[in-house]
Amino acid sequence: MRTLVTGATGMVGRRVLAELRRRGLAATGASRTAETRLDWTDTSNWDDVLDGVESVFVVTPTGSGLGNRVAGFLDRAAEAGVGNAVVLSWMGVGAASDQGVVEERAKRRFARWTVLRSNWLDQDLTEGDFARMARARNGRLELPVTKRTAVSFVDARDVANAAVTALVEDHHGREYTLTGPQALTFREVVRMTKGTDSPVWRFKAVDESRFYFRATDRGWGERYVDTLNERFAVAVAGGAAEVTEDVRAVLGREPIPMERFVRESTV
Ligand SMILES: NC(=O)c1ccc[n+]([C@@H]2O[C@H](COP(=O)([O-])OP(=O)(O)OC[C@H]3O[C@@H](n4cnc5c(N)ncnc54)[C@H](OP(=O)(O)O)[C@@H]3O)[C@@H](O)[C@H]2O)c1
Repeated sequence: MRTLVTGATGMVGRRVLAELRRRGLAATGASRTAETRLDWTDTSNWDDVLDGVESVFVVTPTGSGLGNRVAGFLDRAAEAGVGNAVVLSWMGVGAASDQGVVEERAKRRFARWTVLRSNWLDQDLTEGDFARMARARNGRLELPVTKRTAVSFVDARDVANAAVTALVEDHHGREYTLTGPQALTFREVVRMTKGTDSPVWRFKAVDESRFYFRATDRGWGERYVDTLNERFAVAVAGGAAEVTEDVRAVLGREPIPMERFVRESTV
């Protein structure tokens, strides 16, 4: 069985690929810059990429407008005989979103599918665009939320381990909402980074337009920033605070708490 891991350079995909290999399973990492080149906007090598693949882990880049392209890839994968699709999605997204379109296509085209809807990742604070933004502002993260906005952040290691479990065990036809063990405000999270080398160590709540200008000044695309603003609006309305049992249901253990993430990812 060979698994194709898309988004293989990203926060979750990279860990899925590493964990499959750690278990001695055959896996290929794919993205525009991974070992196997896969671009959702370029169909020319999709048949080659899918040759000999049994399972696929599907990552739709956030705010890219590529949902229909990724869904088209799933059509091609199903036609090529891929039997199992595990889809990474975002907690609380609607059916019309990029992730929603991909979820629906996986359910329609594959007899074996699993949907993993993740909440905001702990690793956004250390690896992604927010970490870069904070580094450029002397550690200050400025986001369009309120002081009270709480999020049940989840560790990308738990999401990746859930994905690997779904790829190798029978979780077919299941949808999981993956959260951390508690909802925390951004201020509470940033307080935990005190005395560490975390790229984020100060926090300021700003309005949407200020975030928009800061982000577009950094070269982030408008669609991406609009999508982030939508996700933040959901969080402000309380829609990212739910704590679920689904990490425990899939992994048989508690999710990694934020304190442990901060301890292990900083010095
Ligand atoms: N970040 C979060 O807090 C969060 C929370 C909940 C859910 N999620 C879900 O996690 C997934 C990834 O999130 P993210 O975007 O924040 O993660 P990310 O870690 O930045 O990963 C995005 C991946 O997509 C690849 N990619 C980008 N454009 C591509 C293209 N045109 N063709 C092929 N691959 C492309 C990137 O690799 P290359 O640049 O090498 O192509 C990268 O590996 C999304 O489905 C999102 O809904 C994220």
